Amino acid sequence: MLLHIPQVLTPEQLAHARALMAEADWTDGRVTSGSQSAQVKHNLQLPEDSPAARELAQLVLDALKRHDLFFSAALPKQVFPPLFNCYQGGMTFGNHVDNALRRHPYSGEWIRTDVSCTLFFSEPEEYDGGELIVEDSYGLHSVKLPAGDMVLYPSTSLHRVEPVTRGARLASFFWTQSMIRDDAKRSLLFDMDMAISALRQRHGDGEELVALTASYHNLLRMWAEL
Ligand code: NI
Repeated sequence: MLLHIPQVLTPEQLAHARALMAEADWTDGRVTSGSQSAQVKHNLQLPEDSPAARELAQLVLDALKRHDLFFSAALPKQVFPPLFNCYQGGMTFGNHVDNALRRHPYSGEWIRTDVSCTLFFSEPEEYDGGELIVEDSYGLHSVKLPAGDMVLYPSTSLHRVEPVTRGARLASFFWTQSMIRDDAKRSLLFDMDMAISALRQRHGDGEELVALTASYHNLLRMWAEL
């Protein structure tokens, strides 16, 4: 499942984040990648222990906590602290799959990457190129979203970022270990949750809706790994 999640950040949060990013010191993005992806990765990143990166990461994590659509789609067990990157002057990130396991930078705990997210901080008209291309069983998806919006996709997907030929593309990216490791099961639960919410809005609560909601929770109970 590839999902567009609109308005994760408010205009105020976005403006504050952009001001922090403008002042920050950026370094070569290869520091956080595996050896295969390091060969194709050409971008800038905020060092994860810098004060700006920590403040920005907290801002994104707080925004995610308030976002029902993210919760429903990712069913997060643990969210890896968000990282921040910048592509400009032809920078690009060629085809790769993200590492399956990563160590949490603070707790040292291993996190399995089930769900990947990219949150856009630049408006599409501020730069040329820079599309996130995600390959799944239905083909290629090209993603370039308004600032403050996010795309969520399975971490098993091959993906790349096209060269940025004008302007700068600022984004945050992060991984989530889901309570539901399998993308097909997670997608099914998400579709069911969305249909139940729409039914409730249209018809209010009824006996059938209670039964459907019970089935949703019982599937979650059957599949969730905590
Ligand atoms: Ni990646």
